[in-house]
Amino acid sequence: MERRTFLSLMGLGWLATSFPMVVAAFLDKQQPKTAAPSDFKPVGTVSQLESNGQISLKQFFGPEPILVVREPKTAKVIAVNPTCTHRGCLINWKAQEEVFDCPCHHSQFSVNGQVLRGPADDPLQTYTVEVQGQQVLVKQPTL
Ligand code: FES
Repeated sequence: MERRTFLSLMGLGWLATSFPMVVAAFLDKQQPKTAAPSDFKPVGTVSQLESNGQISLKQFFGPEPILVVREPKTAKVIAVNPTCTHRGCLINWKAQEEVFDCPCHHSQFSVNGQVLRGPADDPLQTYTVEVQGQQVLVKQPTL
């Protein structure tokens, strides 16, 4: 077998084996994501988040409240339990400063829930968020 023929056959072989994977990858991206993963729960819509600047529910996971905001710089959607870890007041989101602020004793928390200023010592509980189309979904915390 000539070298040229061998290389042509190798190229055809590579193409024949790769083509189904390329098609499968393309088709997978074309599939709309319609079903939310079972451990995610809808908290609201992107429209609500955009119009109100936040989604706040008094009870979401059982008795626990939830606060969903969008980080201004990255547009990342963030969900936290807004119960201050100091003495349980409900914190507020200050979008301009990009901090969660407690009105009771002025603890501040970063967008990741980490303590920026006490007296709180512990971070806010954060949740994993996924946006699917218009739906904002929050993952159930594992206990
Ligand atoms: S309850 Fe939030 S700082 Fe005290």
